[in-house]
Parts: sequence; C-alpha cells; structure tokens
Amino acid sequence: MTAILSAEGLSKTFRTPFSQREVRALDGLDLQVAAGEVFGLLGPNGAGKTTTVKILLGLTHPTSGRAELFGLPVSDPESRRRVGYLPEGHRFPGYLTARQTLSIFGRMSGVAPAEMKTRIPELLASLRISDWADMKVKKFSKGMTQRLGLAAALVHRPDLLLLDEPTDGVDPVGRREIRDLLREEAARGTAILLNSHLLSEIEMTCDRVAVLRKGKAVAAGRIADLTGQGSTYRFAGMGVDEALLVAFRESGALAERVNGHVQLTTRDAEHLNALVDTARARGVLVTELTPERSTLEDVFVDLVKAGEAGEAGGASDGPLQGRRPQ
Ligand SMILES: Nc1ncnc2c1ncn2[C@@H]1O[C@H](COP(=O)(O)OP(=O)(O)OP(=O)(O)O)[C@@H](O)[C@H]1O
Ligand SMILES: [Mg+2]
Repeated sequence: MTAILSAEGLSKTFRTPFSQREVRALDGLDLQVAAGEVFGLLGPNGAGKTTTVKILLGLTHPTSGRAELFGLPVSDPESRRRVGYLPEGHRFPGYLTARQTLSIFGRMSGVAPAEMKTRIPELLASLRISDWADMKVKKFSKGMTQRLGLAAALVHRPDLLLLDEPTDGVDPVGRREIRDLLREEAARGTAILLNSHLLSEIEMTCDRVAVLRKGKAVAAGRIADLTGQGSTYRFAGMGVDEALLVAFRESGALAERVNGHVQLTTRDAEHLNALVDTARARGVLVTELTPERSTLEDVFVDLVKAGEAGEAGGASDGPLQGRRPQ
C-alpha cells in the first residue's frame, strides 16, 4: 500500500489567549491513507477532525508528532501541490460567478489556460451547476455553494482530496451524485480523506474509517470489520414455541421474541449450530436465520456513550473491545 498521506503520533494543544486554558484537540493520532482509498474521519463535535485537516495543510502546526503528504513533511509547501481542499463552511466572494471562481482557483493551482477551457465546463457539468455557471455566487444556495467548493477542490486534478463535510447542506440526490463522483475519483487513484457527520453516507462511501473522541482514535478499520457480523441472529421457524426458547436459554443463549421472530445471541458458530439442531429435533421448520449487523451509527453511538460512561467513572471500553485501532 502506497500511503499518500501518513501521520504518526499527531498531537495538538491549543491555549486560549485570555484564560490560557489548554485544549487538547489531538492526542497521538496515527493515520494512513493510500492511493485510491476513501478514508472517513468521524467523531462528535470538537473531536479534532478539522484540526487534523488543518495540520495536514500546514494551516496549524502540531504540538508533537509528524505528518507527511506524498512523502514530504507538511511543513514543505511542495507537499500541497497535488492536494485539493474543501474547507468546512467555506465562502467564495459573492461578486464572482461560478465560472470566474473556478477560473481563479484553476490559475492559483497552476492549470494551463488552454486546459481550463475544457476543465471548467467539465467540472460544472459533473457537479450539476452548469445552469448556474454565470450566476453570482452570492445567489447560490448552500448546496450549490458546496458543489462549487468541490469543483474548486478538483480543478487541478489533485491526487489527494481533503474534504471537510463535503455534503453539508446538499440534498439527497446531490449527496448521491457527490458520492458517485468521489468513488470515481478514488477509482482513478485519488486518495480521499473526508469528515462527515452523515454516518450512513460514510458507510456507503468510505473504505476505512477512524472514530475520533477527544483527539484520540478510539476505533479504526474497514467498515465491515467495525460493524462486524455480530453473534446475534434473526431466527424464525414454524413451530417455535416457548419451550424451545427455554431450551435455547438453558444452553446459554439469549433468546427473545421480537416482532414475530426470535433474536438469538450465541457464543459462536458451534453454539448456533447446536441451537438449530435443538430446534430441528423438536420438529421446527427453520424459515430464517440471518446475522444482524450493527450499522456504523450504532458503532459510533456506542463509542461516544462508552467514552462518556468511562468519564463518569468506570471502564471506558464498554462494548467496543476488539475495535481498537491496530
Ligand atoms: N484555534 C483554536 N483555539 C483554541 N481551541 C481550538 C482552536 N481550534 C480548535 N480548537 C478546539 O479543539 C477541539 C477540536 O476542534 P475541531 O474543530 O478540530 O473539532 P471537529 O472534530 O472538527 O468538530 P466539528 O464536528 O464540530 O467540526 C475543540 O475543543 C475546539 O474547541
Ligand atoms: Mg470540524
């Protein structure tokens, strides 16, 4: 795996100017994003997501740790040449049109004027803002501004995209279009790091994620591994009676009736098979047995709540042991 972006032990402590109170925004974060990979940085408000992006862009300096883009330290401006950036809640000057905005960003990013002639209409079309190309940006809705921001980030065909809340304010159809666009970019080999609070969207877009809490990665990995195939199953059959549920429970399983099916929590695959044998031996015709996966939102809420419980006193691991970052 060629890491386009890599960070090791990143920490950042802000000191508020008047009270001199210390805020630990990042606390030993490790991060790697490879070419062609879409990586999601998740976390509650104030977890350190924007701070991470700002450090990667050299907009703020880490208190300790190191970060590199394309093998160059982030203190070297050259490391940013092939980076496209969409800031959180960005604003363009209202007196510019969309086309003028892209032209300025293209020139600043070193795109040749001849190339801009084709590149700008191409971007306006792929972000579906061609009809507004010559309208002043001040008349743009939030979603349109966001689409223009993405177009500006993409204007010089970057190899790394850093996107802070890319679909903020965009309607569901637009979000899907942006998702498809990002997947296409990744398929071309672009590395993408994005922050979002829209977890279902992260689940559909990202290959890997890290969940930040108070500047630390409290879970990281491929989404399928984090959400995991749990040991809880949805079980249904003809002839399931109370005596069967008692037999299940006596073997150590959790068995509850939920909306016409049985929710079964087993120790392992062998235990599950033994339960099916028990049901079959009692003449039950099994009609359904499906693993119940937790969604990324379930994992996220568990993590944040486990952290809060930990702070209130007691262990902070809760239900998330085994989901620690490697
Ligand atoms: N310039 C600054 N001076 C002081 N504290 C700061 C500064 N920038 C960020 N912080 C603090 O650092 C912490 C992390 O902030 P950050 O903006 O990185 O969070 P975030 O994960 O992006 O949150 P959100 O989801 O709300 O965008 C917060 O406690 C924030 O108040
Ligand atoms: Mg932020």
